[in-house]
Amino acid sequence: MSAKGRTTQRLDKVLSNMGYGSRAELKKLVKQGGVVVNGLPAKDPGMHVDPYRDVIEVEGEKLLYREFIYIMLHKPPGVVSATEDSRDRTVLDLLDKSYLIYEPFPVGRLDKDTEGLLLLTNDGKLAHELLSPRKHVPKTYEADVAGRVTESEVRLFSEGVTLDDGYVTLPAELTILSVEERDDGPLSKISLTIHEGKFHQVKRMFEAVGQKVVYLKRVRMGELMLDESLPIGSYRELTEDELAILGKPGAMDPLDNKK
Ligand code: URA
Repeated sequence: MSAKGRTTQRLDKVLSNMGYGSRAELKKLVKQGGVVVNGLPAKDPGMHVDPYRDVIEVEGEKLLYREFIYIMLHKPPGVVSATEDSRDRTVLDLLDKSYLIYEPFPVGRLDKDTEGLLLLTNDGKLAHELLSPRKHVPKTYEADVAGRVTESEVRLFSEGVTLDDGYVTLPAELTILSVEERDDGPLSKISLTIHEGKFHQVKRMFEAVGQKVVYLKRVRMGELMLDESLPIGSYRELTEDELAILGKPGAMDPLDNKK
């Protein structure tokens, strides 16, 4: 077991996931003595290693394995916020497979048709801090709502609305950005900050006041803002500044891999 309590993994799996070649290529490389584990040439590509602890060298190059990764994804519609799904593509399918070795997972869920900010990490503690119902981490959404959103809804949301299951939401900040008159009726563009994360919460809050969300995008989670220069469907690792905002400065530095 590693420092994180994970089980060990096959050497060839670790290396292929990190882009060092296919299983077949790695088999050959191991046979040629090109992979050294803790100072000894590896004999079996299937040997189990702990990439966090074992010192692995590939053709003399020391493998730098990090403990945590933090990825900002601009989630597109049509993919599910899960690590696996029998029917739909998941957000993990959007990542380069070299990231999968870190076993990232989405921090919370966005609906399949919702776009926007989704953090992917393997840092369970951070995920808990952002998701714990007791922390009331604010999440800001932008939405298109069919109909005319008025100051009356702004007031209702600021007091908390009763959802279909009887749950009364915490006060939420609703801002009306614009109301467009269209041939098929008014369309309101709004921004909404909620301090909890009930299932389909934004859509259900509008349903509670007789309105329908037709487009939804998350733009902020806690202090983390969606990088609007990130094209939809793409991702990047968090910057040092963003990590500092989350209280994780230096968190992406590679492990020294020293025992
Ligand atoms: N609220 C919703 O209704 N859907 C989401 O995806 C997120 C918040």
